[in-house]
Amino acid sequence: MKQYVLALDLGTTSLRAAIFDQKAKMIGIAQKELKQTSPQPGWVEHDPKVMIKDQVEMIYEVLKKTKVSISDVSAIGISNQRESVVVWEKRSGRPIYNCISWQDTRTSEICKDLKFEEEGLEAYVKETTGLIVDPYFSATKLQWILDNVSGARKKAENGELLFGTIDTWLIWNLTEGESHITDFTNASRTMLFNIVELKWDDELLEKFNIPREMLPDVTHSGYFFGTAKLAGANIQITGVAGDQQASLFGQGCIEPGQAKNTYGTGCFILMNTGEKIQYSKNGLLTTIALGFNGKIDYALEGSVFIAGAAVQWLRDGLKLIISASDTEAIAKNANPESGVYVVPAFAGLGAPFWDSYARGGMFGLTRETNQNDIIKATLDSMAYQTRDVLQAMAADSGLKITHLMVDGGASANNYLMQFQADIMGILVERPANIESTVTGAAYLAGITAGIWNIDSLMNKRTIDKTFKPKMDEYTRNKLYEGWHNAVKRCMNWAR
Ligand code: G3P
Repeated sequence: MKQYVLALDLGTTSLRAAIFDQKAKMIGIAQKELKQTSPQPGWVEHDPKVMIKDQVEMIYEVLKKTKVSISDVSAIGISNQRESVVVWEKRSGRPIYNCISWQDTRTSEICKDLKFEEEGLEAYVKETTGLIVDPYFSATKLQWILDNVSGARKKAENGELLFGTIDTWLIWNLTEGESHITDFTNASRTMLFNIVELKWDDELLEKFNIPREMLPDVTHSGYFFGTAKLAGANIQITGVAGDQQASLFGQGCIEPGQAKNTYGTGCFILMNTGEKIQYSKNGLLTTIALGFNGKIDYALEGSVFIAGAAVQWLRDGLKLIISASDTEAIAKNANPESGVYVVPAFAGLGAPFWDSYARGGMFGLTRETNQNDIIKATLDSMAYQTRDVLQAMAADSGLKITHLMVDGGASANNYLMQFQADIMGILVERPANIESTVTGAAYLAGITAGIWNIDSLMNKRTIDKTFKPKMDEYTRNKLYEGWHNAVKRCMNWAR
């Protein structure tokens, strides 16, 4: 019998399913865009039922594409957009509200008031969860649902409702309600989970008024999460991790000091810090990198909220491009000295600024500014934001970062990768396989199911291209200074 691994990635803008063969080679992938709605400014939601329906559709599509029979699939690995929240009825499986996305800032006021009223809360949150008090994380989103959906709090207290991040919601559906479970990486993004003691934190549950009964069990990322029922087959789910931690693993960053950047909807830069918890003094998060092989690895993380989403905005909002891939040639031919900056703070600013009241802006426009300048400046903003985070990372870790591993959709853009190397003055390494997220999920599942072994997988990584910095120091510093001037003007805009 063949032993294939099915990896699922339920992301923010797309749902993907990929098949890996016995040699851990990805032999096919299917993907569908995931819709998001914005019922009010700053609100971002998905339909949780559509998420499941379309994710399952992608499973069947990739099986068809690769001509793999479902009965030859030995294990499933899952990665997912983190922090986003779904609450559903235990009995019927019906969500009581849409999925509130990690990008949603509706709870900014709740966070602001909490920081103001509850002395010591910020320090407590940092110490126990590694996070900062911000609407990005699940806690206040869940609190909002319980307080705003009629009858929800009472039902939750009676044990009639379940809470889940997206992995939990997917597993619950694939196992037909048998497993209500998450892994350490996803739990560590809720602002309710104690990353030192590895348990839901009673004090935080009380502070955010969250009934304990609605929370899932939490376990290692390589574990038996339940049995998925698909087309009459029973398949074990043996790997689960938040998408950024999955890509860290997929990139082979298992040693302290190794860092990667994934250019997805946002940019997420994670550095493995090993078994030691390191708290940031420079606006980064401390998070669980992986619970695997009986040990916990931690990471420092810089979360940039808008990266690829800004290219989507160029395409769908401004209609300046037809496809994201157009941007490379346009940016290469644009005026490198236009002086135009785009700050895509559409959902506030994440690391290292943490200002949920920031809003986007364009600066340096003149009568000569054209759409190519705006497109180029939008790409450049991803590189500037990445430098902001890497600088903070170097300061926190005391390590000199000499190269950055990249993956995700926009890492295919050669203009952006060269500008990234230029603006940081370090090497940028792009692997041959930029699908690190599904790869990480597949690796976790395949290793746990006993199909592959970790050492041989980690040697499989090959580099497609290394981008070397070519920009002189003066230009680099001048451009970066301009970026900071632009960012300053966007901060606090919506307060
Ligand atoms: O923290 C949010 C992150 O997990 C979203 O990732 O790839 O869906 O943009 P992505």
